[in-house]
Amino acid sequence: MEIKGIKGVFVYGDKVLIKCETSGGETSFSIPIINFPYFAYIIQEAKEKIKELNPLPNLKIQDEISLLNIYLTYAIPHKISGDERTFRRKMREIFEFQKNQGFINRVIVVQSILDKLSKPRTYLEIGVERGYTFYQIQAEKKIAVDPEFKIPGGFKNTESEIFFQVTSDEFFEKYAEDFRENPFDVVLVDGLHTFEQSIKDVENALKFLSPRGVIVMHDCLPKNYPSSLKSLEDAVKHPEFDGSWSGDVYKTIIYLRAKRKDLFVAVVDSDHGVGIIRYGEPENMIDIEESEIEQIDFFELMKRKEELLNIKPPDWFKTWIETL
Ligand SMILES: C[S@@+](CC[C@H](N)C(=O)[O-])C[C@H]1O[C@@H](n2cnc3c(N)ncnc32)[C@H](O)[C@@H]1O
Repeated sequence: MEIKGIKGVFVYGDKVLIKCETSGGETSFSIPIINFPYFAYIIQEAKEKIKELNPLPNLKIQDEISLLNIYLTYAIPHKISGDERTFRRKMREIFEFQKNQGFINRVIVVQSILDKLSKPRTYLEIGVERGYTFYQIQAEKKIAVDPEFKIPGGFKNTESEIFFQVTSDEFFEKYAEDFRENPFDVVLVDGLHTFEQSIKDVENALKFLSPRGVIVMHDCLPKNYPSSLKSLEDAVKHPEFDGSWSGDVYKTIIYLRAKRKDLFVAVVDSDHGVGIIRYGEPENMIDIEESEIEQIDFFELMKRKEELLNIKPPDWFKTWIETL
């Protein structure tokens, strides 16, 4: 049997499952996860195994996707069964794991900023989906906004966690004013991934941001052409679509860098581009007309990403956070 390619690496229950395409169809093999702290080694082992079987030079196991699977299989069952304490403990472990590994992604960026601010801190997440990020974040007050939550086992409002099942526009129009007394310290913008909506979300968030507050915007650097398309429908139809959709959120960063003299804007080059936006002096600005921004496609963006997005390597964040 000839292994022709790797179709995926998944975490299922207590196993890491590796699916391979073979001359005769498909096959898979699995490596057990004994418990979570060994996860990194298991992934390493899986990578080695893949190399042995079929050294595909471009194969990259997406640690982020594996972490989402870990969340769904390691922590979520406790939430569904009503064992809140174990669920929270495991969410903490998932967070600590990323921190210890030195990952720089949206979760680490949001929490590192919150950790620099004095308590009590208020966190707003626009676009929450399954709660993967929301439940990892530690803050005294957390607000979740999504017109269609997909949180396994559901959600309930408490003193410290409040859920609004509405669009971000409706939230800002009807409910954000209630938080005027405790403005948002960090807002994660991760809702509808279009230029039109993400610019509205940023501009609305700026109105309710605390003086030292920061907006973190996910998906500012699409990883390929289909991922960068304006509509999810078009992205899905594209033959090279691989499940990731960042949309044209990157245009919001370009727009802010062209128009807003009162904002510091940069994008950390990891986790599909983690944008950082806060009141302050821009590092530099760009000269570009609004009509031109609409025309910038993925290929143009790749050629000019340093200039257009003020791209920073992940290690930059470790230095920047010390200046907060
Ligand atoms: C990429 S997911 C969010 C992922 C989440 N922040 C995380 O880190 O795990 C995007 C979510 O945005 C939500 N969404 C779509 N349109 C929205 C809108 N107008 N306002 C707020 N959320 C929206 C979708 O329902 C979806 O659950």
